[in-house]
Amino acid sequence: MKSITIRAPSTIANLGPGFDIFALALEHPYIELEMHLTDSRSIAFKLDGCPEDIPDDPEKNCAGLAIIDLLKKIDSNAGVLIEPRRTIRVGAGLGSSGACASASVYGLSRLLGLSLDPNQMIEIASQGEIASGSVAHADNVAGAMLGGFVIVKSYNPIEVIRIDTPAVPIVIGVMRKTQRTTRTFIPKSMELTLVKEQLSFCSLVVHAIMKGDIEELGKAINNDYISEPVRSQSIPGYSDIKRKVLQSGAFGCNVSGGGLSIFAICDQNRVQDVADAMKKAFTKENMDSEIIVTRASNNGIKEVKSE
Ligand code: HSE
Repeated sequence: MKSITIRAPSTIANLGPGFDIFALALEHPYIELEMHLTDSRSIAFKLDGCPEDIPDDPEKNCAGLAIIDLLKKIDSNAGVLIEPRRTIRVGAGLGSSGACASASVYGLSRLLGLSLDPNQMIEIASQGEIASGSVAHADNVAGAMLGGFVIVKSYNPIEVIRIDTPAVPIVIGVMRKTQRTTRTFIPKSMELTLVKEQLSFCSLVVHAIMKGDIEELGKAINNDYISEPVRSQSIPGYSDIKRKVLQSGAFGCNVSGGGLSIFAICDQNRVQDVADAMKKAFTKENMDSEIIVTRASNNGIKEVKSE
């Protein structure tokens, strides 16, 4: 096999309270990467026609950085050319870097005939996240790799639990960050009373997913003391937007991953109301946000084509 095309889903990392631990895969948007083995002994990107601003220096690119780590681990100087065929909005908290890193590690493993297990691939792919300005967190890459709802059970070594998700309706107001990452503003410690509440929010998320209860899940994702207070500060009128979205029928609303997109969970019959309320609230803040209506998905990485 010389070429392969891999699809990987967008993900909502943290899913409210599960900072660096939870992620949920989405039906769309998704990325598709075409990968070719070459004789060049280098990692190259073909980005013409790519709508997103993606660096072609492998050291600065999430797929490149993950591949560098993979090739180092297996002591190989294989050459590879990567062409993104479909992209997710970059820098919007929808897991575009995690999807690219996961797809490139999975794709190259297939091209080289390696037999890495999912945790090994997730560990390598998480190195790609460093390119998006943060540490090697594994939530987005695990969600993109495995689909469904994922819990990063351990970081050292990486171990991930995957649970099937119900097809939760999700409305997203897409917003890009102006700075590379807001992660550095998250406080390093937390009061014990808040820790206890945060633990109960997280437990409720897991309970709701396992029960398949969309209303309970919405309520569970609505609270967070770690990421939301920091990320929401960069979203003009966030508390007003959230209030309007909840009034329109959403069970819960929060910041997606590292932001600045906002996501809401609701019943299928309220999707249009929630999408309209979100659009109106963004417009009131003079923000021209794209609204995406999607669903949670059990599909992770998929091989679309190989030859
Ligand atoms: N857990 C990561 C964070 C997700 O909150 O920074 C980034 O998409």
